Amino acid sequence: MGNNVNKGFIPALKYKCLTKYFDLFLSVLMREYKIKNELIKYAGINNNEKILDFGCGTGTLLLMLKSYYPNNEINGVDIDKDVLTLANDKLFSKGLSIPLSIYDGENLPYESNYFDKILSSLVIHHIYPEDKLRIFNENRRILKPGGNIFILDFAKPKDFYSKIIVSILKRFEPIDDNIEGNIPDLLRKAGFTNISENFYFRTLFGGLTIYRASKLI
Ligand SMILES: C[S@@+](CC[C@H](N)C(=O)[O-])C[C@H]1O[C@@H](n2cnc3c(N)ncnc32)[C@H](O)[C@@H]1O
Repeated sequence: MGNNVNKGFIPALKYKCLTKYFDLFLSVLMREYKIKNELIKYAGINNNEKILDFGCGTGTLLLMLKSYYPNNEINGVDIDKDVLTLANDKLFSKGLSIPLSIYDGENLPYESNYFDKILSSLVIHHIYPEDKLRIFNENRRILKPGGNIFILDFAKPKDFYSKIIVSILKRFEPIDDNIEGNIPDLLRKAGFTNISENFYFRTLFGGLTIYRASKLI
């Protein structure tokens, strides 16, 4: 069993008892639909591409993806079995069936070179610094050569308000790699290329960006 599993993980709103309020929190305070739509648009998904939502949480991004791309194979994975139950119920209530898998913190439950694109929203700042490289390596392993990962997460703050708010947030979540601008370098160390940072979305909790990275071979 790896470090991640021993140490546990950080749930959607830090404390398990708050997970059920996550959707309300995100939609009211984080411009959720706007930023998730931008992520989907930017990923430029083509018909028949296989897509993974890494750290899918309660399944909102999966729901949006499936409604825009009903014929694509779309999968979700998360480390928290309770959040996957919420996702499953939400998808079921909309008449959608999307395969959801549990991540053990070590090996993603997919074969190598399987997905065309991985999307991930607000997950990376929940991952402990010592786990990030291994997790990026795992994501790279399951992407096809030529595949891309699109990560929506906190950016290095560009405005005064974001600087203040993330300095508070860092007491609760391991957000330092984001605010110090280390994410592109970590992606490079995991073997990704063509790494870029795109957009800067101001939210109540600080600036977000979309990191894009490619797997060449
Ligand atoms: C802030 S929530 C975001 C959920 C969803 N992606 C969204 O944008 O609505 C963070 C999610 O990351 C998941 N998570 C935390 N650590 C993880 C890890 N090491 N591997 C995979 N998922 C993880 C949590 O269980 C939670 O569902």
